[in-house]
Amino acid sequence: MCVSFYLTALIAETLQFTCITAPEVTEGPYYIGNEYVRNDLREDQPGVTLILDIGVIDTTTCQPFQNAFVDLWAGFYGGYQGGNVHKDTWLRGGEFTNNRGMVEITTIFPGFYVNRTAHVHVMVHKGSETRPNGTIISSSGATTHIGQFFFDESWNDQVYATHPYNTNTQGPHGGRPTSMQYLGKSLEDGLLGYITVAVDGSKNYTIQGKNAL
Ligand SMILES: *[C@@H]1O[C@H](CO)[C@@H](O)[C@H](O)[C@H]1NC(C)=O
Ligand SMILES: *[C@@H]1O[C@H](CO)[C@@H](O)[C@H](O)[C@H]1NC(C)=O
Ligand SMILES: *[C@@H]1O[C@H](CO)[C@@H](O)[C@H](O)[C@H]1NC(C)=O
Repeated sequence: MCVSFYLTALIAETLQFTCITAPEVTEGPYYIGNEYVRNDLREDQPGVTLILDIGVIDTTTCQPFQNAFVDLWAGFYGGYQGGNVHKDTWLRGGEFTNNRGMVEITTIFPGFYVNRTAHVHVMVHKGSETRPNGTIISSSGATTHIGQFFFDESWNDQVYATHPYNTNTQGPHGGRPTSMQYLGKSLEDGLLGYITVAVDGSKNYTIQGKNAL
C-alpha cells in the first residue's frame, strides 16, 4: 500500500501545479446517504478487488484537500436490490482524506448495466460530521463535488472476461480512463487505480437522492 500511496502522492504533487477541476457528472438515481465511514467497501461481494488511491486537491487553494469525506457508491447494485433501499451497504461508504489530501479505499471493480460504461460514483464532502455508530451525516457540511470514475476499455475487457462479470448479459458501453495497474502479477491479485480529483472547495452542490441508510 505504501507503494500505491507514493504513486498518488507524486500525481497529486504534479497536479497541484496544474489544478484542473474534475468535471461534475450526474449523481444518478442511486445515491444513499449516511453510509458507513470505512475504507473497505467489499463486504461479501465477489469480483476483482479494486484499491482506489484518491488524491483530492482544493482548487481554491491548490493545496491538498484535508479531511474531505470521499463517498463512493456503485450504481444501482447494493442498497437497491430487491427494491429494499436500506438493507445492503456493500460497495457504499467512504473515508476522510489524510493531511496530504489522500485516501485509499478498497472496493471491487464495478459491474455494468445496459448502455452505461463501468463507473464508480463519487462525492467529496467538506466538513462532514459523523455519528457515534460510525456513519456519516451526508447533509452536514458541504458537497463540493459529485462525479464518476471511469476505466480504460482495456481494463473493462479484462475484468469482464472473468467470473462473475461474464454472466452479465447486458452489453457494456463506452469508456474513459482512471490510471490503473495490477496489484500483483495478474488480475487475480486485484487492481490498483489512482486518480486525483481537483474540486472547488467553495462549492456546495445539492444532493438529489433522498434515501438514507
Ligand atoms: C440501449 O441503447 C440502444 C441503442 O441506442 C437502445 O436501442 C436501447 O433502447 C437502450 N436500452 C436502454 C435500456 O436504455
Ligand atoms: C446511525 O445512527 C443514526 C442516528 O441515531 C440512525 O438514524 C442511523 O439509522 C444509524 N445507522 C445505522 C446504519 O445503524
Ligand atoms: C450546503 O447546502 C445544504 C443544503 O443543500 C445546507 O444544508 C448546508 O448547510 C450547506 N453547507 C454550507 C457549508 O453552506
